[in-house]
Amino acid sequence: MSDLLKWKKGACEAAKIASNLLLSMRQNFSVREKGLYDLVTDADTASQKVIYEHLKNLFPDHDFLGEEDGKGEEKDPGPNAPPTWIVDPIDGTTNYVHDLPLYAISIGLYYQGEMVVGVVHDPSRNEMFHAAKGLGAFVNDTPLKTSSITSLGKAMVTTGFPYNVRGMEHLFSWWKHFSHRSQAVRRIGSTALNLAYIASGRCDVFYAFDNHVWDVAGGIVLVNEAGGKITRVDGSPYCPFKPESLATNGQMHDLLVAEFQNGPQEG
Ligand code: IPD
Ligand code: CA
Ligand code: CA
Repeated sequence: MSDLLKWKKGACEAAKIASNLLLSMRQNFSVREKGLYDLVTDADTASQKVIYEHLKNLFPDHDFLGEEDGKGEEKDPGPNAPPTWIVDPIDGTTNYVHDLPLYAISIGLYYQGEMVVGVVHDPSRNEMFHAAKGLGAFVNDTPLKTSSITSLGKAMVTTGFPYNVRGMEHLFSWWKHFSHRSQAVRRIGSTALNLAYIASGRCDVFYAFDNHVWDVAGGIVLVNEAGGKITRVDGSPYCPFKPESLATNGQMHDLLVAEFQNGPQEG
């Protein structure tokens, strides 16, 4: 088995172990506020621990960067660093706390300056989204392909907001802009699922201005391998360590970049 497939298999196993743990803790977890409206539970830390232990056991030479490390470290490890696992143990913690079935485990592997493996697991629907660079994207055993929508008027647009949106009027300007021009706009509260849904053709566009690297790490290879495209919102090359993302089905990408270049319109 190639290294990429071996790494992807290990990530899927780790995600499944974490998924079982999250489901088993649903009736019994404690929650606190990390920041204003920014929740963390002991399920987040427990999930990260089992993922770390599984991956460290399989790949002792690899590095690990998890949201709940407490280091807050989001520096690009660079092309010469060991393969680095980037993990969000629950993407969509607020949904998890409220028992809304829209949260996921997100695991990506960064190697030689790019993401090469991506896994997003949805415990509520038992959907394992997985991809490795050059080897396609899948949900469970089914290959993924982005949608073939070409017009904004037919598109399902998704976005994410930071926890504290005070002073962030541009988020509402863009919400209004796309609400008037697309079929629908959704903010589901999990960036990892947003990206998996672009890859699977359920949604057509995702944009955000505030992502952390662990939010996007599992979804990037999924989008690319399913035929989609991901850049910064101005169309420049993507960097997972920078906060902006524009992911589309591929066909609509230039159109969306033009929307962002023109700025949000009134009405
Ligand atoms: C959040 C989700 C949400 C995004 C927020 C993230 P968390 O992650 O990805 O969709 O809009 O910016 O912080 O905190 O639930 O892991
Ligand atoms: Ca997250
Ligand atoms: Ca999280």
